[in-house]
This record gives sequence, structure tokens and C-alpha cells, in this order.
Amino acid sequence: NIEQKVNELISKMTLEEKAGQLVQYSGFEYATGPQNSNSKKVLEEIKQGKVGSMLNVTGAEETRAFQKLALESRLKIPLIFGQDVIHGFRTTFPVNLGQAASWDLEMIEKSERIAAIEASAYGIQWTFAPMVDIARDPRWGRVMEGSGEDTYLGTKIGLARIRGFQGKGLGNIDAIMACAKHFAAYGAAVGGRDYNSVDMSLRQLNETYLPPFKAAADAGVATFMNSFNDINGIPATANKYILRDLLKGKWNFNGFVVSDWGSIGEMIKHGYVKDNAEAGEKAILAGSDMDMESRIYMEQLPKLVKEGKVDIKFVDDAVRRILIKKFELGLFDDPYRFSNNDRQKQQTNNLENRKFGREFGAKSVVLLKNEKKILPLSKSTKTVALIGPFGKEAVAMHGFWSVPFKDDAQRIVTQFDGIKNQLDNNSTLLYAKGCNENDQDKSMFAEAIETAKKADVVIMTLGEGHAMSGEAKSRSNIHFSGVQEDLLKEIAKTGKPIVLMINAGRPLVFDWAADNISTIIYSWWLGTEAGNSIADILFGNVNPSGKLPMTFPRTEGQIPVYYNHYNTGRPAEKSTDRNYVSAYIDLDNDPKFPFGFGLSYTDFKYSNFNLSSENLKGDQTLTINVNVANTGNFNGEEVVQLYIRDLFGKVVRPVKELKGFQKIALKRGENKTVTFKLTPEDLKFYDDELKYDWEAGEFEIMVGTNSSDVMTKKIVWNK
Ligand code: IFM
Repeated sequence: NIEQKVNELISKMTLEEKAGQLVQYSGFEYATGPQNSNSKKVLEEIKQGKVGSMLNVTGAEETRAFQKLALESRLKIPLIFGQDVIHGFRTTFPVNLGQAASWDLEMIEKSERIAAIEASAYGIQWTFAPMVDIARDPRWGRVMEGSGEDTYLGTKIGLARIRGFQGKGLGNIDAIMACAKHFAAYGAAVGGRDYNSVDMSLRQLNETYLPPFKAAADAGVATFMNSFNDINGIPATANKYILRDLLKGKWNFNGFVVSDWGSIGEMIKHGYVKDNAEAGEKAILAGSDMDMESRIYMEQLPKLVKEGKVDIKFVDDAVRRILIKKFELGLFDDPYRFSNNDRQKQQTNNLENRKFGREFGAKSVVLLKNEKKILPLSKSTKTVALIGPFGKEAVAMHGFWSVPFKDDAQRIVTQFDGIKNQLDNNSTLLYAKGCNENDQDKSMFAEAIETAKKADVVIMTLGEGHAMSGEAKSRSNIHFSGVQEDLLKEIAKTGKPIVLMINAGRPLVFDWAADNISTIIYSWWLGTEAGNSIADILFGNVNPSGKLPMTFPRTEGQIPVYYNHYNTGRPAEKSTDRNYVSAYIDLDNDPKFPFGFGLSYTDFKYSNFNLSSENLKGDQTLTINVNVANTGNFNGEEVVQLYIRDLFGKVVRPVKELKGFQKIALKRGENKTVTFKLTPEDLKFYDDELKYDWEAGEFEIMVGTNSSDVMTKKIVWNK
């Protein structure tokens, strides 16, 4: 039925109107790319039916005003409003990498459900999320927006996010279109430098970087977004192999593909096309349907079709894909259905959503060290000092990639307020900033040292500024920025017990702190309820259960370092081995903190690891059991992880691959048997001819609390 309506509409459209549906402009309040909008011209073009979608126009009133213009056009085709709803909307949640540290798929899905409910009430029908780029290089600023280094975990999280955004399906008033981005391999930019090239084997691309996208397409994600990078010499925006052959061909994706901001035009600078005309031609032929802010499709497509360079069927196909989504969203029934002031009011500072945000924030925190059992702190500690540049930061708590709203500063719970709210009335919370996040200046150190001396315990909040991770925020040096480490060293000299809280959007390098400070928690950027979430952890209302979704390097020189590497012909048996092995002469081989690592206030003991068989054949299922007991003094949650290793293959296989995980809650003294199942499907990999299959042979099965600390058993699996 929709198909028929779309065909009828297309038959009435002029070439210019068709090109218009493929155009997306940014609003004028703020920009998420190099802005060049001529606002008057854009408004005129909307009225002429030359615009299909707007991004960065937010709010019931604002979207209504733009929609009104679109309805003045000849065919009255409504606009779609897109927005970067990345880690929450009016209620912000931890930055995505922090969310991934929760390994809690239900919470992740719920956070996106909330984001969709809030955003759709503000007139938004489309989010440019989830970012499902696998990333092994923490210098890349966008690791903040993803789920880390692992394909299995990243795929599961991507799917949870899509379920959250798209809810019960497009057409429901609180469902928004999700967008799997950035297609493809954006996370593998050379040197972790944003927008940089990617050159890798098709085998690696298919095995590591594409599975989350394939899963998103299979799950019915409404849209895809191109990546900025070139892949093996061809910009992703015009990459026929990934767009036409895989996505729209083999994977049968029936949604539409939007370019990234300006990426069609950027192909000229890539050196792939000589001018706008060639850029438009290559992009539409490869399968990019909508042009975000390049302004090339409107300018070039009608001409290219008339000249016979682009067959109209490619333009029609792109228009058809976009119009189908407009119908599915219900925009032809009521173009204003998402722009509703009452719903918007209900979703502004919604207390239920904030309550969830507080819980989710605490679930994302990772306890890295608690050697002296300083944590959890007593709420009656007499004098607590909070020291560091982020203690009283409000808006920054959102982290990068959140829509800036004017009332944000009043709504956000700072770390200072969160801690103060939970301390007993008789206790005192002191504060000293010590330095600004990027200072080279130490003039505030003295006050911070004096403050520390007065305290029974010092909580230090260090890391990187919230705008130091995100798009175009790659760093070559991923230490604490400015003089923060020096501040920490000075405070440590006071001899006071220190709890170090690290705020960041990526894994940082903090070797000195990791070796010298007994108590460290990684607290990312936690969103609207940041202060309450962090105080819940510090005072033990919530027992930390987060696990690292990326490997933490010892130093930048170790990057890329990731758990599922190959063994090489000369592996270092011990981390300290140097003698003619694959190692650095000046650095241990193992990372500072491994993938999947995270402690709890309680202790977990793993035992009774057993397998249903050690000799399998064909399509049998392997059942893996392990008992986990809470042997400590707190109720807690543990993420039990399952890894495998295929010992010999037609192509070399990683030393470990995550194949399952379960997050379980255990009361003090309680134990549970955790069961995993594996079938040959889980053993499949891409060989050198891109055949996806499994091979008979020997495998190691590993379970444990993180990727380094595992128990191992060997099996044989025959065909
Ligand atoms: O969605 C983003 C994308 O991830 C990076 N460039 C800009 C887009 C729209 O804001």
C-alpha cells in the first residue's frame, strides 16, 4: 500500500522535486559540521519542495514552523527532522563508551527508549545513532560515541540501541528512526586521527568492522550514514562495494543512506573526483541516497540525469526509499504529529527519566583499584575534600554530543552537589579546583594542598575536558590534560587517603596514578544525574559493576592494543619478555587494564567450570557451566565473560574472541551457575577468499571475570 502511494507520488514529481527529496540542510541555531547555510535561501528552497530533511532544528515550535513551509510546496511533501540524539536528549546519560561499560543491554535499550520518547516530543523523527564503529585506538576522539573495541559486544549494544530508538516500530508517535553509522570502518582511521584514511584487507573489514552494520540491517534499522574516510582508496560515500554490493545488495537493506556532513563534496579533496558534478554522480551511483549539507545533489542531479550520466532509476530509487520512511513515520497523515507542545513539556526535566539516568550512570562506573578498601566511603566521614577541575562543572557533565539547551546548567547535578547531598549533616565537604583542565599554570595548587590537608579523605576529579573527546577531537597525548597529574602528585604528598575519579570520554593513559594511587574509579561523563550517580558509588548505595569495553594502554606508544590480537610467530610468553619476541624493548607487553576488567566492592569466586563434552561433532551444541559465588561483604553484580580461541585455522585466529557474557546479581554469600551455549555458528570466520564458515579442529574455551583472567579448557570439534 505504501509502495503504491510512493509510486504515485513519484510519478507526479519533477526532476527538481526528486532531487529536492535527497537534500538535507542544517538549521541555523547551531551546527555539527562546517556550516555554510544561507538561511534565507534554505527557507525559500523548502517552500519550493527542494528540501527533503532538516537536521539541527529542535523543538515542537521550531519544527512546526519549518514543516509549515514544506507544506506550502506544490506536492506538500513533509520534511523529516534529524538530530544527533547520541546519549540521551533532555535527560542525558553517560557518554556511549561509558554506557558500554555497563554491559547492561536492557539498560542501554531503555536509555534509548527514553531518548526517543523525549526527542520525538521535540519534533525529532530521526536520530543519527547508534554509532556502531568498532575502534581499537583511544586517540580517536569518537571512541566516546561507540561501544569500544569488540565486535561481539558492539553488535549486541548496537542492536539494543536500535530496539530502543525504534521502539514498537515506525508509525508509533514515540518511535524515531535509528541510523547505523558510520558506514564503514571509520573507527580504523590511521593513527586515530579523525577523518583519516583506512586501508585494510576485505577479510578484516568483514570480520571485525562490518558485523554490527550487518546485524543492524537485519534488525530493520531505518537508515545508514556514510563514513568520512576512504576505504582501500575509495571514499565510503561512493564506495560501491559496501553500499550497492553489500548493504543494498547482499544484505537487502531497504531503508536509506544519508551522507555524513559534506562527505559528497569532500570527495574532491580526497582526490577521488574532480568537481561537484562527478561527486554527485559517483555518490548516487554507489548508493548514497541523501546529501547532508554538501548541496551537490540539488545542484547536479537534474543536470546529470538530463545529460544521461545518471540513469533516472538511481534517483527514483533514492527518492522511493526516503518517501517510504516518511509514510511509515505517519508524516503524510499528519506532518505535525511529532511537534506537540504538551508532550514537549512533559518530557522536559522528566523526573522518572532522571531517576533512570541516575541508576544508569552508576552502572557505567568502573572500579579500577580499591587496594586499601577505602571505598565505599562512610557518609559520616568528618571532612571530605573534593579537588580537581571537574568538581563543580555542570553542563560539561553531559559529555560531548548533546544538544545544547539553555536551561541545562540548572538541571545538571554536579559532582560536588551529588556528594554533598549524601554526606551527613555533621560532615563537611571542602572544594578546591586546583587547576583548570588545560592549564599549564600551577598557581591554584597551594589552595588545593591546604584544602587536602584539612580533610580525612580527598576525592580527586581529574581527566580530560568533556569537549576533548568526540568528533574532530583526536589526541596524540591521552594523558590527563594540562597540569592535572602534577596536581595529583602534590596532593599525594600530603599523605591523605585519595580516591581518584577519572572523567573522560576515552581510555586515558595514567600510568603514574595507576601505580601510585590505591583507589581509582573511571567515571566517564555521566550525564544529567552525574553527581548523584557518582555519589551512589562513592558511598556504596550502588556497588560498581562496570567492565572496560576497551583495553587501556600503558602508554600511547602501545596503541593500538586490543585483547583479540593474533599470536604472531614470536609471541612474548611473559609480558616482560624481550628476547627476539614480538615486544617493545622499553615496555611490558600487557596493557595497563585489560578489556572486560572492572572490580566490585565484593569478591567473586569462579569454580566448577565444566563442559558438556570435550569431543563434539557437526551441529552439536556445547554447554558451558561455571559457578560464581559472592564471597565478599556486599551484594553485587558480575559480568561473566566467555571467550574462545580457534587454535589452528586456514587463516590465523585471535588469541581470544568474546562469544558471550552474562551480567548476574549475587547477594552476599549467594552463588549461581551460569550457563553458556556454543554452536558451530559461533565458530565461523572469514577466510582469505571471504568464505564465512567454521573449521573442524581444536578450540580453547575460556570463562572469567575479564579478558586476561580466565579459566581454560580444550575441546575438539569435528565436522
Ligand atoms: O551525525 C553526525 C556525524 O556523526 C558526524 N558529522 C555530523 C553528523 C550530523 O551532525
